[in-house]
Amino acid sequence: MTLVQSTPSLAEIIESAERLPPFPDVVWKVAPLIRKMAPLQEIESVIKYDQVIAARVLAMSQSPLYARKRAVSSLQDAIVALGDQQLLVVILTACSARYFTEDATGYDLRSGELWDHAIASGLMSEIVARHLGCKNILTAYTAGLLHDIGKTVLNFHVKTYFESILTTVKKHNISFIEAEQRILGIDHEQLGALIARRWRFPVDVTTAIGNHHRPLEVDEHSDLASLVYVVNRMVSALGIGCGVDGFLQPNHDKVFVRLGINTQLADKFLVELMDRYEHTRQFLQAS
Ligand SMILES: [Fe+2]
Ligand SMILES: [Fe+2]
Repeated sequence: MTLVQSTPSLAEIIESAERLPPFPDVVWKVAPLIRKMAPLQEIESVIKYDQVIAARVLAMSQSPLYARKRAVSSLQDAIVALGDQQLLVVILTACSARYFTEDATGYDLRSGELWDHAIASGLMSEIVARHLGCKNILTAYTAGLLHDIGKTVLNFHVKTYFESILTTVKKHNISFIEAEQRILGIDHEQLGALIARRWRFPVDVTTAIGNHHRPLEVDEHSDLASLVYVVNRMVSALGIGCGVDGFLQPNHDKVFVRLGINTQLADKFLVELMDRYEHTRQFLQAS
């Protein structure tokens, strides 16, 4: 008699995603204050409401990436030194860190490696978005930072059914993400989009998260999905949080062509990323 390993129900997986704490609303509160040029103290009081986030914003703003020439010793200093756009980037990063504290061993990633991948992808999205002349750098950064958020929840199930997933990859010659879908009933793209929708992220961000391995399969917001696709490929090529699935994902080289990114340009982006990432990493540990 063959014993068949039962897989989790879809409802069970979705329930575990729904148990994630809501995304802190400090970004949504600070953004309109910046737009209406509210007094510094007003912005500070909103950030200070969550002491953990306030402490992280201060620590991150002291990193070489953000501190630049200014000495930062208080939250008010940080707000001034960072400037509007970078303040939102730093708050968003500080808010995201709490979701990446667990290991992702289901994807063969040690503790902190998925967060490293998120940080590098956020930074790389910013670099590529600037090169492409995108208007909203924060949107690109957000999609890059959170593109694999689905893994933080799906990791447990991938770990449990890893053998079945890998056997399915080999037997049917399909990508890891397709095998996730077949075995678990949902993949980390779809689960990530579901989480981001629950957190009330805008539709371009949720679409990019939900299609970051298959950007050509989406009609609307395919530009952002394509950007995140190339970012994920380049960051994975550096071995930052690449994981077991890194080289078992769908290969769409034409997305690079579509965005006008050739080998020389990709190398230039990678050099810029490594410079920024290495100087910053120690300040961005998830805790
Ligand atoms: Fe992914
Ligand atoms: Fe990724």
